[in-house]
Amino acid sequence: GNSAKGYSYETLQETANFLLARISIRPTIGIICGSGMGSLAESIVDAESIPYEEIPNFPISTVEGHHGRLVFGRLDGVSVVAMQGRFHYYEGYPLWKCCLPVRVMRLLGVKTLIATNAAGGLNPTYKIGDLMIVKDHINMMGFAGNNPLHGPNDERFGPRFPPMNKAYNYEYRKLAKEVAKEYNIENIVREGVYTCLGGPNFETVAELNMLKMVGVDAVGMSTVHEVITARHCDMNVFALSLITNECVTSYETDDQANHDEVLDVGRMRQDILRKFVSRLVTRFHQI
Ligand code: 6GU
Repeated sequence: GNSAKGYSYETLQETANFLLARISIRPTIGIICGSGMGSLAESIVDAESIPYEEIPNFPISTVEGHHGRLVFGRLDGVSVVAMQGRFHYYEGYPLWKCCLPVRVMRLLGVKTLIATNAAGGLNPTYKIGDLMIVKDHINMMGFAGNNPLHGPNDERFGPRFPPMNKAYNYEYRKLAKEVAKEYNIENIVREGVYTCLGGPNFETVAELNMLKMVGVDAVGMSTVHEVITARHCDMNVFALSLITNECVTSYETDDQANHDEVLDVGRMRQDILRKFVSRLVTRFHQI
C-alpha cells in the first residue's frame, strides 16, 4: 500500500504503465520546462501530449505560465518526454509529490534529466536574460528538515543515504559550455550555485544578502528537490537557470521582483533556449 510519505513503487509503476500504454515513444531524456519556458516543448516533433489531469496519481499544476501536461516525442531524433509545467512546493504539495514525475520518468526508462527554471540573479555580474548552468545547489529547505526523500526508503528507487556530490554531471556541463561557444552565446552563459526557497513570496533584502554571503549565485523556487530525487534513482542531471531578474540586495531601490517579469524574460529568450536545449539533448544522447 501507500506509505505515509510518498506513493509506493507499485503505485508509480501503475502510472508509468498507463503512460507506456498510451504512447509509442520510449524516452531516454526528460526535460522539465521552467516558468515561462514551456515553449521548449514546442520543438518536439511527433508530439503526443497527455494533460496531468488524465494521468493516474499525478498532481495538477495551478500556476500561471504553465500548461500542465507531459509532451512525448523527438528532439533531433532523440526520444524525450517534457513536463510543460512543474509542481511547486508553494502550491501546497509536499516535496515528494512535487518530485513524483521524476520517479515516473525513471520508470519510463529516462536516464537523463534536464531541469530548467527561472531564477533571480544574486551574483552581481549576472544580467537579466543570462543562462546559468547549475554547477551545484544548496538545499536550504533540506537544512530545515524538508526533503523529498524524507520518510521510508524503497531501495528499488535508490539508497537510504544517497551521495549528493557530483549531482550536476561534469560531462554535461562541459558539453553545455562547448555548445554555448558553438552557438556564440558564451557571453550570456554562466555557471553557478542555485538555491531553492519555498516561496511563494520573493525574498527580503536581508535574506538575499545572507544567501549571497554563503555563495549562492541564483535563487528560485524549484529544481533542488527534483535533482535530489533524480540522483537518488541514479539519473544523470543537468540544470539550467534563466536569470529573469536581478535580486534586490539594497534598501535604496524601488525595484520589486514580480512574476510578469519572470514570464517576459522567458519569452524574450525562448528561441535561444529552444536551440540550446535541443542541441544539448543531441549531445547528451551521444555520450
Ligand atoms: Cl528573486 N527569488 C526566487 N525565490 N525565485 C525567483 C526569483 C527570486 N526570481 C525568479 N524566480
